[in-house]
Amino acid sequence: MKASELFDVAGLAVIVTGAASGIGYAYADAMADNGARVVLVDIDRAGLDQAVAKLKARGGDVRGAVADVTDRGALRAAFDRAAGELGRLDVLFANAGIDSGPGFLGMTGERAADGAFETLAEERWDKVIATNLTSVFNSIRAAVPHMKRNGKNGGRIIVTTSVAALRPEAIVGTPYMPAKAGAAHLVRQAALEFAKYNILVNAIAPGPFITNIAGGHMRDPEVAKAFGSAVPLNRVASTDEIQGAALFLASRASTFVTGAELVIDGGVMLGRAD
Ligand code: NAI
Repeated sequence: MKASELFDVAGLAVIVTGAASGIGYAYADAMADNGARVVLVDIDRAGLDQAVAKLKARGGDVRGAVADVTDRGALRAAFDRAAGELGRLDVLFANAGIDSGPGFLGMTGERAADGAFETLAEERWDKVIATNLTSVFNSIRAAVPHMKRNGKNGGRIIVTTSVAALRPEAIVGTPYMPAKAGAAHLVRQAALEFAKYNILVNAIAPGPFITNIAGGHMRDPEVAKAFGSAVPLNRVASTDEIQGAALFLASRASTFVTGAELVIDGGVMLGRAD
């Protein structure tokens, strides 16, 4: 089969959460640029307007929906509206997420009190679990009824986890780890339950990408260097480097892939090269 057919997403009805920025925007961009019809969901109205305008200017069939993924009612209403407008729902990227503040070690190896297990703010724990884990549950639940209506065509659910789901890390805030590991396992559980409906559920687990997360700290060359030094490819990634995985998991290139976690990390999980 030709690559253009294998990876074809033209006409698919797609929702991307956390699409105003970073990895979510890159997913929306990859879908829209290849002819999918995309609803971008985000809490940040101004960022969303800009993202939608940018994709529209390039001819994308896109629209925006402001919603907080931690607000079950608002999320479901946004998904129902999106599926109504698009006439169906084929693909969901459950991507919205936040950082969890400092880890227990700072960039230069010093102990950081506000990231320490015993003293980190409980509100931070609650917010990170709600945004990075419970929102995935909310999003899958809001998408599945629409995908079931597609009959044997089913649907695709792609969750952004992280290498943090696979191993702990001292310089990243503690709540992020169980939130992402939980999301990764939720992907497996959902893949098992929804296989019957041909709804394929997979995760993309990025290593360090330059986005606006944590106030865009990865744009600081010192921070990028610190994260990049743990990567065998010796650099952090730009968001266009996630787009191949997105096209793969949304298209017929991956019809027999479910419950997988596709690690896009420049080799981070291999350990240090030197
Ligand atoms: P980003 O900050 O550039 O984009 C995240 C988007 O999600 C923003 O537009 C933000 O407004 C939106 N968002 C945050 N909370 C929301 C909420 N409650 N409701 C709706 N939208 C909300 O960050 P990035 O890096 O693109 O993050 C995307 C996903 O990738 C997250 O799940 C993150 O944990 C994950 N990730 C990022 C990595 C990185 O190095 N940048 C590495 C591994 C995973």
